Amino acid sequence: MMISTSIWSFILVISSVLALSTAVSTINANQSIKDGETIVSSDGTYELGFFSPGNSKNRYLGMWYQVSPSTVVWVANRETPINTTSGVLQLTTSGILNLFRNTGDLIPIWSSYISLPVQNPVAELRRNGNFVIREENDDNPDKFFWQSFDHPTDTLLSGMKLGKNFVTGQEWNLSCWKNSDDPARGEYTYSLDPTGYPHNTIRKGGNLIFQTGAWNGLRFSGRPQYSGNTMYTHKVVINKEEVYYMFEMINSSLSRLMINQSGKGQRWTWLQQAQIWNSVYEVPKDQCDSYNICGTYGECNIDNNPRCACLEKFVPSSIDAYTNGDWSSGCTRKKPLNCQKGDGFRKYPQIKVPDTISTRIDENMNLKECKKVCLNNCSCTAYATLNISHGETGCLQWFGDLKDMREVSKGGRDLYIRVALSDSDRSKNLAALIISLSASAGVCLLGLTLAFCIWKIKKNLTLKVSEETLKSNLKEHKNMSQKEDLDLPYFCLSTLVDATNNFAKVNKIGQGGFGPVFKGILEDGQEVAVKCLSETSKQGTNEFMNEVKFIAKLQHRNLVRLLGYCTDGENKMLIYEYMPNKSLDWYLFDEFRNKLLDWPQRFHIIDGIARGLLYLHQDSRLKIIHRDMKASNILLDNNMNSKISDFGTARSFIENESPANTNQIVGTFGYMPPEYALEGLFSVKSDVFSFGVLALEIVCGTRNRGYIHGDRIQYLPEHAWRLHKEGRSLELVHQNIRRKSRYRHEMIRTIHIALLCVQQCREERPNMSTVVLMLGSKGDLPMPSQPGFYSERSTVGSEASDITILQGR
Ligand SMILES: *[C@@H]1O[C@H](CO)[C@@H](O)[C@H](O)[C@H]1NC(C)=O
Ligand SMILES: *[C@@H]1O[C@H](CO)[C@@H](O)[C@H](O)[C@H]1NC(C)=O
Ligand SMILES: *[C@@H]1O[C@H](CO)[C@@H](O)[C@H](O)[C@H]1NC(C)=O
Ligand SMILES: *[C@@H]1O[C@H](CO)[C@@H](O)[C@H](O)[C@H]1NC(C)=O
Ligand SMILES: *[C@@H]1O[C@H](CO)[C@@H](O)[C@H](O)[C@H]1NC(C)=O
Ligand SMILES: *[C@@H]1O[C@H](CO)[C@@H](O)[C@H](O)[C@H]1NC(C)=O
Ligand SMILES: *[C@@H]1O[C@H](CO)[C@@H](O)[C@H](O)[C@H]1NC(C)=O
Ligand SMILES: *[C@@H]1O[C@H](CO)[C@@H](O)[C@H](O)[C@H]1NC(C)=O
Ligand SMILES: *[C@@H]1O[C@H](CO)[C@@H](O)[C@H](O)[C@H]1NC(C)=O
Ligand SMILES: *[C@@H]1O[C@H](CO)[C@@H](O)[C@H](O)[C@H]1NC(C)=O
Ligand SMILES: *[C@@H]1O[C@H](CO)[C@@H](O)[C@H](O)[C@H]1NC(C)=O
Repeated sequence: MMISTSIWSFILVISSVLALSTAVSTINANQSIKDGETIVSSDGTYELGFFSPGNSKNRYLGMWYQVSPSTVVWVANRETPINTTSGVLQLTTSGILNLFRNTGDLIPIWSSYISLPVQNPVAELRRNGNFVIREENDDNPDKFFWQSFDHPTDTLLSGMKLGKNFVTGQEWNLSCWKNSDDPARGEYTYSLDPTGYPHNTIRKGGNLIFQTGAWNGLRFSGRPQYSGNTMYTHKVVINKEEVYYMFEMINSSLSRLMINQSGKGQRWTWLQQAQIWNSVYEVPKDQCDSYNICGTYGECNIDNNPRCACLEKFVPSSIDAYTNGDWSSGCTRKKPLNCQKGDGFRKYPQIKVPDTISTRIDENMNLKECKKVCLNNCSCTAYATLNISHGETGCLQWFGDLKDMREVSKGGRDLYIRVALSDSDRSKNLAALIISLSASAGVCLLGLTLAFCIWKIKKNLTLKVSEETLKSNLKEHKNMSQKEDLDLPYFCLSTLVDATNNFAKVNKIGQGGFGPVFKGILEDGQEVAVKCLSETSKQGTNEFMNEVKFIAKLQHRNLVRLLGYCTDGENKMLIYEYMPNKSLDWYLFDEFRNKLLDWPQRFHIIDGIARGLLYLHQDSRLKIIHRDMKASNILLDNNMNSKISDFGTARSFIENESPANTNQIVGTFGYMPPEYALEGLFSVKSDVFSFGVLALEIVCGTRNRGYIHGDRIQYLPEHAWRLHKEGRSLELVHQNIRRKSRYRHEMIRTIHIALLCVQQCREERPNMSTVVLMLGSKGDLPMPSQPGFYSERSTVGSEASDITILQGR
């Protein structure tokens, strides 16, 4: 505290200076110590005086252990160094400690402060390292006027409080040094957070980076390994006036808790024999200690890779983000809660319990009562035993989302989290009950009388579950597994979680424009592909329901079959039949795999796509324009049959067959006809155009975009048309298959048909029924006119342009 110079000059009268021939532990009123002089606690442990930290020349008034090297534990003027050795500390007759620089003028540097009047003040450096101002003849700590323990620097000593006094507003917390040359306040603080149930925290700036986990009467639950020490006891005191953490030495060993300049909370003890400080523990100790690293309802396990996983019965809020290592969005319940109908609790054993910032405690409840109270308050999300110091007592309830949990092998606490009834332990118990009931029933069959049987079963009923609850449980299970809004099976998220092994990375088989695709195996052994629509994708709920609606009604051997869908909060998923041979682009645009496709297979694929499209355009009840035909949307089954997939952008055109206009362009550059890309006009002929491009790509084995001919980049249709006009269209065919002369005619004919499909003029393009006819016959074909293409030079060669775009116009 700074006091103006005018007050100082009037306060300051140096009458006598301590005679320091022998070490003293006190300063009396009107006495002072100068730089170079010190006072020492009566047992010789602590010394107080002026020092310069590290390489600094600045002088600070501080206190240190009298060990070598001396270890500073407290600094008075940490923010206001003295740049000369002219520092003087004086105790005034009114009981105030004043530190000033005496360079002719008296410049105030630092001052203690007391509010009560004092008779005969004395400043004493006590054996526990507390520098106090007290009445000369009163040794009672409760009556100290001022004490350094109330003004911690970066170190907590035995008997110091860390916490808050609600009456006076006094806070005790530690803040690190700026660096080893400068004891001024650094970035990190170590403090007890009195909000909710107390826990110790480390903050950087204001941001929480670590918390110890809730106090359980013996220790903080996130730090099991420090339980068995015999050197000190520690406690958390909670009452109306104050809440604080404190440790106290059992014998005269030295131990201190500090926050170092890199934000580590460290406990050091002095090894008398070795004469060194031993680091007993340090927090945060690993990445799992980083505050809330796994997001809400996530759990960190340092031995796992990846470290984060959702708690059992919870799933990622965003599967896409979570599998990519972005855990911040956390997890949500697999099954939604239904507080009105009744939820349950599931036990999560031995974990560092979540952040207790919004909790309520009741020391008098037992665990059973705790559960009941929590169950009856819909906003109570979890509960646990409060205090394990003398058996398990008390109730700790959480409100709001649960954060910052980690697995701890021992010394953690059992946490009971609110979950849907069917996910709860009660339903587990129910299952056990049913088993034991049927076991008993089995005994009954062995010729015992019915009455005896019933008596026996009744006797064995340890769980009192009425038949009614049992029935409603079963009903709820049923309700979960079928939603009948659509003509399509609804899969619950939990089924898909199990099928894909919690969307494990190894099961990821693709990344579509709208999100990842996972392989899964259902309980009955069926292989499925689960397409997750990522939150960040542009395919919104509309496109999703669109796809579900369309494809649910479509059935054709050249269309991929949708088996079901799932919506759960933000998560939207489609379940398809699994295609072992992946998608066409996987073969086509890979130098090696391209060779695997011979001509008959290619032709078969082209023919299949044509038939699938024909079905979409004409034969299905809905008459659908796909709008995003491209190689990555053609999947291949065991026998290399092509199957059109991805109906997120499809449109039905039942009402009117003339081209429709859209103000939102969807599709993929390179496959879009000019009238669509430029004017937004789409019709069945847009798909015909895309089909033509696709057929050329299959023949040629090259992407349309970035097709390099000679030294200039050309689009495939343009190039094919030139060659065709010159009678050299066979040169277009991939060299691996060109040599098979007996297919040459079919190759040339296919290119010809493809060129008819990509003609500039929409009306000139054949419809799909004509295309299928032409592919299957040998009759004459009309001459193609100039293909339509448009310049999208910026996307040439860019991989990103294979992604379906949604572009407002
Ligand atoms: C301190 O000094 C003042 C002024 O010289 C004097 O009045 C007072 O008696 C002194 N007090 C003590 C305890 O020496
Ligand atoms: C010490 O600091 C004062 C101002 O705080 C300044 O005027 C003085 O020059 C400094 N002395 C040295 C030796 O740096
Ligand atoms: C530490 O205590 C001071 C007051 O003594 C307070 O201003 C500051 O906010 C506290 N810091 C933390 C992180 O609690
Ligand atoms: C835990 O229980 C012990 C013994 O009953 C008691 O002394 C202590 O104050 C309790 N601690 C808390 C934080 O409730
Ligand atoms: C204090 O207790 C610890 C543990 O019992 C022991 O190792 C140490 O030697 C003791 N120190 C003193 C000074 O008695
Ligand atoms: C803080 O402690 C950690 C761990 O012991 C150490 O690596 C780091 O260097 C320390 N920071 C400073 C500035 O001494
Ligand atoms: C549930 O608990 C919260 C938090 O303690 C409290 O504010 C609320 O009133 C409780 N609700 C009921 C219905 O008891
Ligand atoms: C009661 O159930 C247990 C298993 O839960 C079984 O071992 C035991 O035999 C049963 N007793 C009777 C009398 O059915
Ligand atoms: C099951 O669903 C039906 C129809 O949605 C509803 O009427 C019924 O209450 C549900 N039953 C349970 C146990 O949730
Ligand atoms: C397609 O899949 C089947 C079954 O998995 C496999 O036997 C066949 O070799 C695959 N075909 C190609 C061309 O990879
Ligand atoms: C497809 O085109 C042929 C030939 O132009 C025509 O006869 C047929 O009616 C068309 N089919 C449809 C469904 O438009």
